[in-house]
Amino acid sequence: MATVLAIETSCDETGVAIVKNRKVLSNVVASQIAIHHPYGGVVPEVASRHHLEMVNSVLDQALDTAGLDWSAIDGVAATCAPGLVGALLTGITAAKTLALVQNKPFLGIHHLEGHIYASYLTETTLQPPFLCLLVSGGHTSLIHVKDCGVYHTLGHTVDDAAGEAFDKVARLLNLGYPGGPIIDQLASQGNPKAFTLPEGKISLPNGGYHPYHSSFSGLKTAVLRLVQTLQKENDNPLPVADIAASFQETVAKSLTKRVIACAVDFGLDTIAVGGGVAANSGLRNYLQEAAKLHNLRVLFPPLKYCTDNAAMIACAASDHLNQGHLSPLTLGAQSRMSLEEVMQLYQQ
Ligand code: KG4
Ligand code: ZN
Repeated sequence: MATVLAIETSCDETGVAIVKNRKVLSNVVASQIAIHHPYGGVVPEVASRHHLEMVNSVLDQALDTAGLDWSAIDGVAATCAPGLVGALLTGITAAKTLALVQNKPFLGIHHLEGHIYASYLTETTLQPPFLCLLVSGGHTSLIHVKDCGVYHTLGHTVDDAAGEAFDKVARLLNLGYPGGPIIDQLASQGNPKAFTLPEGKISLPNGGYHPYHSSFSGLKTAVLRLVQTLQKENDNPLPVADIAASFQETVAKSLTKRVIACAVDFGLDTIAVGGGVAANSGLRNYLQEAAKLHNLRVLFPPLKYCTDNAAMIACAASDHLNQGHLSPLTLGAQSRMSLEEVMQLYQQ
């Protein structure tokens, strides 16, 4: 029954949370969205500097909110991969220092394993095996969750991540950053059938299509061509709501088709969705309807656990600690790491 304090600094959110098994005792997030907004994306150097400035106060808030002192904490964790190396190092260094000073075990956590664990925070009885659709700004993967630390990636994007596609399409429509929530909001006022856009199929050598892999760069280019054609054809303002709705529906349809096929083929009756794009209302509606038809259960975590947060990292760390998995204090940050390599983070 481990109580873990975890730090998440892989991108542009400084998060600290305390979780006792699957119960969140505190979850504090200091977002840098406003800081990166003028640049239209995350600037790695700026992100690292702000994590450094924020981490101590976020840490104090997390301990205060939980009403705990260090004697109640069984372990200290930090996201160590994948992500921006400078940003990750801020959190890892803080966590290792605390572990050393407070004489607690240290655990490095894979960021995507955290997104998988977001579903456990509200579905406390959830147990593997299940299928996780992980859709964020950096990743789009279909993961067979077999056990704590045991994952098999069955499908992934071959180019842009789903969230990246939302951000790039928002940028080309001059809508601002991050694009996902803005497009989501605009799409609710538009007609999703206004424009037909390509779903992004991955060809196989035998002439068929890969059933689980996805591609979003062609879709983004198709939106660009559509915008150029509409601008050339007339001087009317762009029908941005219709473009947003058509784009969003294409992404939702494409992801839904792949996740349902994968769940049915692998006999998995539960689909847990994680990552920032899990907040998307189009995806939520589309997937829930399709899952009903196939008698599948779909779990969408609450929005605060979909986007980056430390509660999901602490939840994963608590499970690893319960199983006796500990990381060496020599553990560093890695910009890339597959989910299949998670157990390399722990001493055998
Ligand atoms: O998981 P996350 O917070 O960070 C990463 O690990 O990448 O995901 C951020 C991504 C961004 O691309 C953002 O545009 C997207 O999630 N996002 C959304 C929505 N809310 C956030 N995409 C579509 N619809 C949303 N409502
Ligand atoms: Zn993330």
